[in-house]
Amino acid sequence: MSEIRFDNRVAIVTGAGAGLGKSYALEFAKRGAKVVVNDLGSALDGSGSSHNAADLVVDEIKKAGGQAAANYDSVSTVQGGENIVKTALDAFGSADILVNNAGIVRDHSLPKLTEEEWDIVLAVHLKGAYNVTRPALAAMKEKNYGRVIFTSSGVGLYGNFGQANYAAAKMGMIGFMNTLVLENAKYNIKLNAIAPNAASRMTEKILPPPLFEKLKPEHIAPIVMWLSSEQNEETGMIFNCMGGWYSRTAVMCAKGVMIGDGLKTVTAEDIQANWDAIRSLDDAKTIGSIQQSFGFVASLLSK
Ligand code: NAI
Repeated sequence: MSEIRFDNRVAIVTGAGAGLGKSYALEFAKRGAKVVVNDLGSALDGSGSSHNAADLVVDEIKKAGGQAAANYDSVSTVQGGENIVKTALDAFGSADILVNNAGIVRDHSLPKLTEEEWDIVLAVHLKGAYNVTRPALAAMKEKNYGRVIFTSSGVGLYGNFGQANYAAAKMGMIGFMNTLVLENAKYNIKLNAIAPNAASRMTEKILPPPLFEKLKPEHIAPIVMWLSSEQNEETGMIFNCMGGWYSRTAVMCAKGVMIGDGLKTVTAEDIQANWDAIRSLDDAKTIGSIQQSFGFVASLLSK
């Protein structure tokens, strides 16, 4: 067991002025990282902006003897993403770790969900991940080293009434990550996602008070530190985390059943007759790429 340290590493944390992001920024700094504290300083619904949020976290890090630089750009624009990474490169000469964490909510069930609410939530969470990750990966590739964390959510992975926009964004991030894992494997860049649950302004009206007290951001920071560390070799995984509970979750593919041979006609009645085997998750496995899935079926068809 080795100590997890980030000496000579530069970590960018988006939305690090409050909640989970703040706890990551403080922990990275405590463990030796130079930290870019990005925060727009917006309200929970994404409105407004202020330098205060990022500045206070930077001050706290510096007072404790750490190194940090503030950035106030919104992750929701390409220019904002580029500026965030540029802040890391200008202040500290590198961008080794990126935690895509900034987030907002605009909750309504679909009939009441406006186009604006759809667009802004996808702009911050999904396009935001694109905007910051793209320039960050360019910097990481040059150094043949990088660690990226995406903040997904159980809302996307499993669903939640009234959060269709947020759920789509949080699940979209998983598809985005899956492809980046393949594109960046040879550069020693590891990308993983977390689905956290913790007390913050985002959850203060949702979580019952006894649970709110027990689900601390400080329970999420340890897995973010681990996944961001040099020691971590995992990539492309998704982890639930809350209140000291950590669990891998995954999109999986079951063994299924081959009822055709690629040539003969398969009918709806054949599907009906084989439904139990088709819907069963027996022998489910994770799949590393679409080619792997094609390969599996091709091997069955060649028998
Ligand atoms: P929070 O509201 O306490 O913190 C989010 C921070 O992001 C705020 O400081 C805000 O100013 C900043 N931000 C918002 N829009 C921004 C933008 N466009 N550019 C830069 N910064 C921006 O929320 P919390 O709970 O700390 O959430 C952090 C992340 O974790 C979010 O992505 C959220 O969706 C995700 N999450 C949180 C859960 C929880 O239980 N708290 C559950 C599942 C996911």
